[in-house]
Parts: sequence; structure tokens; C-alpha cells
Amino acid sequence: MVSIEVARGDITRENVDAIVTAANESLMGGGGVDGAVHRAAGPRLAEAGAALAPCPPGEAVATPAFNLTPPIRHVIHTVGPVWEGGGHGEADVLASCYRRSLQVADDLGLTSIAFPAIATGIYGYPPAEAAHIAITTLRTTPTSLTLVRLVAFDESTESLLTTELSRTD
Ligand code: APR
Repeated sequence: MVSIEVARGDITRENVDAIVTAANESLMGGGGVDGAVHRAAGPRLAEAGAALAPCPPGEAVATPAFNLTPPIRHVIHTVGPVWEGGGHGEADVLASCYRRSLQVADDLGLTSIAFPAIATGIYGYPPAEAAHIAITTLRTTPTSLTLVRLVAFDESTESLLTTELSRTD
């Protein structure tokens, strides 16, 4: 049975087997959480990403975590949707990011994973809708992981995720 938690902080400091980064199709790094993950992992992360690129929106791939602090051993790179008003399949793509990241983690036999609020920064996805999709997708996707932690970088994201997690409908 998987436990889903919400926390606030820098995802690169999480005590989990794998962290997810909100990447772009090049997998070579960017700003936001992807910038933080690449800085902490070192330049080999971009090399490993480039070897697997391009990664289409909604997909996820894993690389080693390089210089990230153990127990983090893997980085799962997923590419969110660029928000274009909601009528371009953005919700399906975002749900796929969470689903595929869990599948990649399962394929690696992992126990714990941390997610950022994918697509809610530079890609512009409305945070409340994104929080709803994150929680409902994680709740309905079968996984052999035991811990999924959603890491909010700011208080309002933490509050949105906590509210979604407390909903029982
Ligand atoms: N830890 C956890 N969350 C973080 C961190 C961090 N160190 N830094 C930023 N965030 C949060 C942001 O506050 C936001 O809530 O991650 C969420 C996602 O924001 P972005 O990183 O901007 O990701 P996204 O909207 O998916 O845009 C992806 O940005 O950096 C590029 O390469 C990336 O082009 C891609 C695009």
C-alpha cells in the first residue's frame, strides 16, 4: 500500500530513492526545479539526459543521480505540458507524467519517490488544477512503491496539495 505525503522544501534534499524533475524535451537541464536538480547532480546528468533525448511531453525516463546525496540514486525526468489554456490535452499529458514516472520507478524496483509540482512554474499550469491531477493520478495508479512524497517549493502549493490530499471524494 503506497503512502502519499505532502512536504515543503527543496526536492534535491529529499531522503528518497528517486526524485522526479520537471524537464524539457532535451533533458539537458533548464531553470526552476530542473536547474536545481542539475546543479546538485553535476554535469554528468545533462550528458546522461542528452543520450536519452528527446523525451516527449507526458513521458518519463530515468538516469543515475550522480552527485545527488544518497539515498537518492535515480533522477526521473518527465516533461510536462506547456499550458495553452487547457484545451490542448494538457490534463492528459500532466496525468501521464505522474503515471509514467511511477511506472519507471516500479521498473527500477524502487521504494520511495519525490515529485515536484510538475508544469506549475515556467510551463504555466494553473496550480490548483495541477494539484488535483497530481493527487488523483497518484491515488489511482497501481504501484509497488511504498512512499510517494509531493514536494512543494512554496506555501501556496503546499496548501493546495494538502487540501487535495485530504479530499475523500
Ligand atoms: N524543489 C522543489 N520544487 C521546486 C524547486 C526545488 N528546488 N525549484 C522550483 N520548484 C517548483 C516551482 O516552484 C514549481 O512549483 O517546481 C514547480 C515546477 O516549476 P518549474 O521548475 O518551472 O517546472 P515546469 O513548470 O514544469 O517547467 C519546465 O522549466 O526549467 C525548465 O527544463 C525545464 O523547460 C523546462 C521547464
